[in-house]
Amino acid sequence: MKMVWGEAPQLWLLFFLGTWGASVVAKTGPAHDKVVVCYISTWAVYRPEQGAYAINNFDPNLCTHVVYAFAGLDITQAAIKSLDPWQDLKEQYGKGGYEQLTGLKRSHPHLKVSLAIGGWNEGSANYSTLVSNDLLRGRFVKQVSSFVRKYDFDGLDLDWEYPTQRGGKPADRENFVALTKELREEFDQYGLLLTSAIGAAKKVIDEAYDVRQISRYLDFLHIMCYDYHGSWDHKVGYNAPLTAPADDPLSVQFSIDYLLKLGAPPSKLVVGLPFYGRTFKTLANGNLNDASDGAGFKGPFTREDGFLGYNEICATLSNKTSGWVRQWDPQTSQVLARSERNVFTQEISVVTYDSSRSIANKVLFAMSKRLAGVMVWSVDTDDFLGICDLDEDTYEDFKKVASAPKRLSGSYPLLRTINEATLLAVEELATPEVPPDTENEIPHGSMADRKNAATAVVSLGLGLFSVFMLQGVQAIVLVITMFR
Ligand SMILES: *[C@@H]1O[C@H](CO)[C@@H](O)[C@H](O)[C@H]1NC(C)=O
Ligand SMILES: *[C@@H]1O[C@H](CO)[C@@H](O)[C@H](O)[C@H]1NC(C)=O
Repeated sequence: MKMVWGEAPQLWLLFFLGTWGASVVAKTGPAHDKVVVCYISTWAVYRPEQGAYAINNFDPNLCTHVVYAFAGLDITQAAIKSLDPWQDLKEQYGKGGYEQLTGLKRSHPHLKVSLAIGGWNEGSANYSTLVSNDLLRGRFVKQVSSFVRKYDFDGLDLDWEYPTQRGGKPADRENFVALTKELREEFDQYGLLLTSAIGAAKKVIDEAYDVRQISRYLDFLHIMCYDYHGSWDHKVGYNAPLTAPADDPLSVQFSIDYLLKLGAPPSKLVVGLPFYGRTFKTLANGNLNDASDGAGFKGPFTREDGFLGYNEICATLSNKTSGWVRQWDPQTSQVLARSERNVFTQEISVVTYDSSRSIANKVLFAMSKRLAGVMVWSVDTDDFLGICDLDEDTYEDFKKVASAPKRLSGSYPLLRTINEATLLAVEELATPEVPPDTENEIPHGSMADRKNAATAVVSLGLGLFSVFMLQGVQAIVLVITMFR
């Protein structure tokens, strides 16, 4: 009975969700109650060979939210617009990407689908103009609301990079609050979600965001916890270190702690995880801080200097004859991988990135801070085809995990890590009220075991419910008999 009472709240929840779910539709999506926000960079469809990612490559079961990136701003109309009508829309025999993504909700009712406006290439100046004018802002708010509803999106994600920066004005900080406030008022009439991508650099946070105010109006703040270092530094550094020395603001932990200090509620903070690394070329030995050129190198699929998708990184590292070696850094939870020296150029190629272990540790961090969950930029550079070897050290830093959960599929290793790690981290962090006794211990088995356990708990719930019902009937009978 001891165990039963300990489990009771979850048990009843499971019971009610179970019966409710069964009567409507089977439950879809992740088995935890944290958010996993998945961005799709929809231009990934144009990448060559196995790098090409179409919406039908997306697995809705691995995310709670998906964000279609990006739409643009037509400042002359104060309107959101498609940046790739052929890909996004159905008109003129287009592929109808918007409706293809939002259509996934029919088979996956848990899924929330948002449209993102902005992104790096959109710049900042036109957004600055939009928010500085009451009339333009008002028109935009109405138009964007009907636009997202037209395609059956559940919400809008603001990806203005960034207010006050890159051609923006100081007044953007205040005007951005006004935009979020007015969007909130409009969206509340339709139950739409309003979220925003938020820069993680201290300077950007300080100048661009009135954190307390925007937190009132946004449902979630998607913190872009990456690009802390890159080839632009002219030396080798980690893309997204989890921690850094106390005087160094360039870490995930600093960004999150800083936003919390500025008044962001933990329940609205979502930690961004990069499914990519930053690349460097150096004539030195390929160690941290070695002088490097300003450009880095590009990958065969993503073809962007200084950037490699995780799928490109893991393919190289899975190739035993490639000559690449990797090195785990326990301080930052980052991996540095380097090539052999090129005999012609004398250069060593370096990439710093997040492995499954990095991702698992960051999930543990997010859970320890009681945050809403994590965000991913972006699912199209996970090993979505399952080509690479799986990492074996993923849960090395989880004290209570004896062996990694069994996987049914080798695809999406990083996304699967997020969902496993979320369950495992919640368990890891649940400090027992009483000293643990063996009788009371929750088994640490595979995901399959966990599912069986959940089913068992539901059956137990049904059993108990019947018992209570019976007892209730007995009690009534007893009362009737007594007072007769
Ligand atoms: C801003 O708007 C102008 C006018 O429509 C347009 O020509 C320009 O390309 C926009 N800027 C960006 C970075 O998209
Ligand atoms: C593995 O790496 C070697 C050396 O760089 C290369 O020649 C070979 O094509 C690679 N194999 C695959 C399957 O990519």
